[in-house]
Amino acid sequence: MTVLVTGGAGYIGGHMVLALLDAGEKAIVLDDLSTGFRSAVWPPAKLIVGDFGDMALVETIFREHKIDAIAHFAAKIVVPESVADPLRYYLNNTTKARNLLECAVRHKIKHFIFSSTAAVYGEPEVNPVGETVPLAPINPYGRSKLMTEWMLRDAGQAYGLKYAILRYFNVAGADPKGRLGQSTPQATHLIKVAVQTALGFRPGLEVFGADYPTRDGTCIRDYIQVTDLVAAHLMALDYLRKGGESLICNCGYGKGFSVFEVIDVVKQVSGVDFNVRISGRRAGDAATLVSGPERIKSVLGWTPRYDDLPAIVSQALDWERRLHNKSNAENWRLTNSAVR
Ligand code: UFG
Repeated sequence: MTVLVTGGAGYIGGHMVLALLDAGEKAIVLDDLSTGFRSAVWPPAKLIVGDFGDMALVETIFREHKIDAIAHFAAKIVVPESVADPLRYYLNNTTKARNLLECAVRHKIKHFIFSSTAAVYGEPEVNPVGETVPLAPINPYGRSKLMTEWMLRDAGQAYGLKYAILRYFNVAGADPKGRLGQSTPQATHLIKVAVQTALGFRPGLEVFGADYPTRDGTCIRDYIQVTDLVAAHLMALDYLRKGGESLICNCGYGKGFSVFEVIDVVKQVSGVDFNVRISGRRAGDAATLVSGPERIKSVLGWTPRYDDLPAIVSQALDWERRLHNKSNAENWRLTNSAVR
């Protein structure tokens, strides 16, 4: 059986493909390469370049391959961008997901693993946050994902589709074997931005708000290492294949770090004291989001392997250096071929 991985040329989807291949599974990637990279898709996974909302294309894929599960990663994921352009988020994360779901139901795909987000909780009253608290997203990104959660729940009830909704907290780090990492040059995520600054690829780092009701005034997040995260997806798939009931799980470690604490760790691990400037709050940010990780441990038996912020930062630094060396090598090749 084969798993269709939408967004499998992206950061988290690419790590999922690696995990599937490592586990001896077959993977087909559907990605429009709008933010993903061809090079992120490791062989023998097959890459189909296209839009996951294109029903004719998805149906052809289902007809031509024996797919028993979809791992749906493809999405727009930047919170402030969703505030500035909400309809783009509802199109990508909600409308197109509906199309994918319809194809899945029509072709009797048995299992659906959905990348959801801690953003569905909005500004929770209590942290760590469990899966059963009221859902009240505070930005279009969170709402666009929550609507897809609702569609899945309804499709599950109506058509018997079994799903796992995984609500990611803040994903960071890179493949411990150095095969993959976060490659988007304009990524906005804190650890990525901080390591790029430490390595001198950005002039400084802006802290978006130091007046939040937290221990040092900056936002607190739960940073989960990407290999640990995709391991949870494989466990969820195994659980569903063995007949488990549909499931909603937080994916995080249950520990929060403030923006200042993350910056300190990046400075310590890199040995570079870079420029930091405090600016105003960013639209759509919650003060604190920390996962209550009990369910994922008890239902799936998930145990984190890389729950260590300095190690996560170190992986991110290694990957960033590797990306930089690779792009230097490519520039060198281009220059030399132009000379010849
Ligand atoms: N931050 C800065 N400066 C930066 C980048 C980020 O101060 O240059 C701050 C943000 O304001 C926020 C924190 O660092 O307080 C984390 O921001 P990220 O952009 O790294 O991540 P978000 O928390 O906004 O969002 C991420 C994912 C979402 C997910 C969410 C859940 O992108 O998909 O985590 O917590 F929903």
